[in-house]
Amino acid sequence: MAKRILTIFGTRPEAIKLFPLVHALEADARFDSRVCVSGQHRGMLDQVLDISGVVPDHDLDLMQPDQSLDQLTARLLTGLGAVMDAERPDWVVVQGDTATAMAGAMAAYYRKIPVAHVEAGLRSGNIYHPWPEEVNRKIIGSIAALHCAPTQTSRAALLAENVDPTSVHVTGNTVIDALHWITARIAAEPALSSGLAPLEARFAGKRIIGVTTHRRENFGEGMAQIAQAIRTLTARSDVAVIFPVHLNPNVRAVMDEALVGIDNLAMIEPLDYPHFARLLTIADLMLTDSGGVQEEAPALGKPVLVMRETTERPEGVAAGTAKLVGTDAARIVAEATRLLDDPAAYAAMAQAHNPFGDGHSAQRICDLLAL
Ligand code: UD1
Ligand code: UDP
Repeated sequence: MAKRILTIFGTRPEAIKLFPLVHALEADARFDSRVCVSGQHRGMLDQVLDISGVVPDHDLDLMQPDQSLDQLTARLLTGLGAVMDAERPDWVVVQGDTATAMAGAMAAYYRKIPVAHVEAGLRSGNIYHPWPEEVNRKIIGSIAALHCAPTQTSRAALLAENVDPTSVHVTGNTVIDALHWITARIAAEPALSSGLAPLEARFAGKRIIGVTTHRRENFGEGMAQIAQAIRTLTARSDVAVIFPVHLNPNVRAVMDEALVGIDNLAMIEPLDYPHFARLLTIADLMLTDSGGVQEEAPALGKPVLVMRETTERPEGVAAGTAKLVGTDAARIVAEATRLLDDPAAYAAMAQAHNPFGDGHSAQRICDLLAL
């Protein structure tokens, strides 16, 4: 009989990293695939559901404005538990480190349903960087029966925590599957990513810097420093910044106040995935505190300056395409200026590497779930 797999997600990055797996499960007669979205994100989640064609069987629609972590987690636990009681899956699949993923793993554990963790074993070693994601991952790691580690580094981190080695498999990261899929879609249908054309025309001849930021540990002073760095960099006439602003009001409020009236800056709404893939293509470099962007940019040979103190994705740094620069404005500006002005420094970082996967991770995970 087909195994019933309940895949749970709620935010933009989880949706991007799980749609390749949902596609693979749906195409495979060994599985009866069910999808539950928590709706932890709304607009940013729906953008991914639309482009990927994933239609959830359950949508808890849990997002509330500026939701607190404890209220969100409480509602996730009861909401996801009720879906599990209705579906009685053979496996629950969660991805990464969000509140949805952690609560999904907990609710499954309370029902003794085995959990498969996609993107297992990422560790920064600091429970406040990233916060609360480092602890979310550790909780999921202590529950999961199947750990899909993207790299040997993440596998080693799990083994160092005495996780049963037979339950840990290096699968690569499904973000590369997603990137390949969207690249092929855009190649077949260029209009999917043509919405940036007016900005590309406006900034023709300038070096494009793509920016994203949303980490909770950067709220407050970190965000103010990032805004200051953007202001300083856009004072250069040869530079333009394209900054799709995360919908979290703690990001928007700071940026809307700090970054008004700058000619070389486009602060825009979150881009859907095809348009963000286009931004990665046209950008000379990325400034980001995002996890997913740290994985996608190396695959495309784009230098990434990571505006964080630590990273649980050391592979990009080891490969030379990513560099940790923290959130001090002067440091961010100095590192970006070096890349803009020193062709040798730029060339050294702008090398395509694929430490995070080969684009076949979803199929490997399917095969593990079928065992
Ligand atoms: C969440 C995840 C974080 C992940 C990030 C990806 C947790 C605790 N945090 O952070 O790990 O890296 O998503 O982006 O799980 N909002 C909207 N529309 C949206 C999305 C968010 O309006 O589509 C606003 C809402 O006011 C919401 C707030 O942003 O309350 C915060 O959303 P939340 O999911 O709690 O945190 P993120 O900062 O998005
Ligand atoms: N992304 C997107 N539109 C944007 C910004 C990011 O589609 O405007 C994609 C990006 O390609 C990556 C993912 O969203 O796959 C990263 O999500 P985010 O930075 O919100 O979360 P994190 O990866 O840090 O958890």
